[in-house]
Amino acid sequence: MAVETKKGFVEILRNLFVPYFSEREELLKILNENYSKEITIAKMMDEHAEIIPFDFLKDKLKKIAEEERKHAEKFKQKIAELGGSVNPSAKIYDVKTGSIHNEKGFRKLVADLEFDKEIYEDYISQINRIENEDVKKLLREIVEDEVRHKDVLMDIVMRLC
Ligand SMILES: [Fe+2]
Repeated sequence: MAVETKKGFVEILRNLFVPYFSEREELLKILNENYSKEITIAKMMDEHAEIIPFDFLKDKLKKIAEEERKHAEKFKQKIAELGGSVNPSAKIYDVKTGSIHNEKGFRKLVADLEFDKEIYEDYISQINRIENEDVKKLLREIVEDEVRHKDVLMDIVMRLC
């Protein structure tokens, strides 16, 4: 009886977690969300680079934006490999920068940093939950870039504050 109860419990846990992340549809949904976030942060960074008054810092931020776009491309490719399609109207995330005005764009850059951190944490959580090894590998590669981006963004923010 105890064994049966345990089996039942394991079954409940499995139903709670495993199918959610192992099913192709869910995987495609996650990849689509990641794609949208990468597109969004790339756009934010490009926009915010324009308000940085120093060219060398502007270029640093634009280079990161370019890498974020490459991440989006990689997600798009993975979605295609899994037989899915990219959401044609990528969701635009509401990032609270509109009400903050600062000529140096300091606060906007902090928002980039925060969003970058949120993305990083999402990917770490996904790596722990997703079963598909190919997707995990891709996420790990992208996480490495995000860690580096965080350092560069911190450096840019520190120089502007
Ligand atoms: Fe990225």
